[in-house]
Amino acid sequence: MGRQQKLVMDADGLDKRSLGYYSTPAFVAEYLTGRMLEEKPDGHRVLDPCVGREEMVISFAQAGKDVLGLDIFDYGHHGAAAFVQQDFLQYYAKRRDQIKEHGGLEFDYYIANPPYNCHESGYIRDNKRSLQALFPDIGTLNMYSMFLAALVHCAKPGAMLGIITSDSFLTSRMHSPLRQFVQERCHIHDLLLCPTDLFHGQQADVRTCLMVLEKLTPREQGLVNGRRMTRTMGRPLNSESFARALRDRTQREVPERVFSLTDVRDHGEWLVDCPASIRHLFQGQRLADEFRCLTGISTGSDRKYLRAKPEAQWTLPFYKNPGKRRFYAAPDGYLPENFLELARTVPNFLVRNQRYLFREGIACSSMGVAFGACYRPQGALFGVNANFVDLGDDLWWLLAYLNSSLVTYLVRGVLLRSNMITSGYVSRIPLLPLSADAKRTLAALAHVEYERCRQGAAADAGIVAAVNAVVYREAGLPPEDIQHVQEFCGDLLRRT
Ligand SMILES: C[S@@+](CC[C@H](N)C(=O)[O-])C[C@H]1O[C@@H](n2cnc3c(N)ncnc32)[C@H](O)[C@@H]1O
Repeated sequence: MGRQQKLVMDADGLDKRSLGYYSTPAFVAEYLTGRMLEEKPDGHRVLDPCVGREEMVISFAQAGKDVLGLDIFDYGHHGAAAFVQQDFLQYYAKRRDQIKEHGGLEFDYYIANPPYNCHESGYIRDNKRSLQALFPDIGTLNMYSMFLAALVHCAKPGAMLGIITSDSFLTSRMHSPLRQFVQERCHIHDLLLCPTDLFHGQQADVRTCLMVLEKLTPREQGLVNGRRMTRTMGRPLNSESFARALRDRTQREVPERVFSLTDVRDHGEWLVDCPASIRHLFQGQRLADEFRCLTGISTGSDRKYLRAKPEAQWTLPFYKNPGKRRFYAAPDGYLPENFLELARTVPNFLVRNQRYLFREGIACSSMGVAFGACYRPQGALFGVNANFVDLGDDLWWLLAYLNSSLVTYLVRGVLLRSNMITSGYVSRIPLLPLSADAKRTLAALAHVEYERCRQGAAADAGIVAAVNAVVYREAGLPPEDIQHVQEFCGDLLRRT
């Protein structure tokens, strides 16, 4: 039987998830409008390309602006804006020549909460060809990314854009062309992470961010300008503190040029609220410079090919995701002894890096918000998570380092805000130049904790604290940045 489709109905009986409908809270719309009017008070025309029930445009209408709202669906709320029922991506496609000729559309402000949800793929699948032609560089990964690219393209020089959208594009490798596209064409005035509970009232668990952008003139585009500043804010714990921060304007201002990773090894990830001392670590060595980090076996169907306990023929311990576990983890299951034969005969049973399988090493988390690493004994196989092999004397201190709060921050606060931590991300974790003494201490701590957990004891938070003390000292972080990391890791679920 196929999976049941989950419907999330709103007050009008519409399935929110098929339309990507999440109502923007009024205080968010007011903030975006206020910021755009602060930066550009004298504009007149406003476009909301997915206006819904007009949540985003009320403040503009109250400010006497001339608002046009588009939406693929007519929700029947038309007090503040003139309305046209229209697919925005088609609207954009039809105006590409006009944009080229005039440098943009007539609007002075764009405000939007573009659709994003798990059923959007139906729309993308049905329109794949035309969307690919429309977004050859950005790609057709999801609706919000296409909306964002189209809006930036529509905007004339000097036009302002206020957007609330999924924040997965800030770090996802697949969205690196989108980041570059926006960064080259816009001054990013604001980049603020929203709290995870912002849409909870609507049964939505989406991580979002607010952006205020200004389209640059063709001469300014692509140039680094040291004077441009960006207001940033890490993720507040809840909507109340978010509303307060927006009202009191407690965001930090950083020079625009420092807010993304610029090293050739990186993909221009956008950093939000990342201290300079931590950003600086990305200029040094990375784990992949010293160690081999790789993936192994993808069964295509763990349910079919994995056994929870060893059985006849299923004897090979398999590590695929330590998740929250640190230092020690029992195998995640057992693979059949004929796994190489399966790889030859079953199309989606894949074995990568065959010659490194069975070697002792470290298995890192692949899914979930927490990041942890566990010892992987000789004779075990590993999955598509990040794995280290051939570590020799470096194994135990590296295990401790990977379980430090600083590394959790480097992974979840800088490199990757979405959930799937591949070996590509783990390889790029900065490698501190640790002293021999520090390595010895870290190795001893990892060893002790591994043994304790292997014998069934609960994880000892004191060990991570001791690891942290060494790592912070070696990294030379100032106390306020240590506190920043500690606060982030102390509430990972809400801060990531
Ligand atoms: C996240 S809701 C935002 C609603 C409202 N503007 C707000 O901010 O609360 C996304 C809106 O996009 C609309 N939508 C979905 N696909 C669209 C498309 N291709 N063109 C225009 N609107 C679309 C949905 O009907 C929905 O109203």
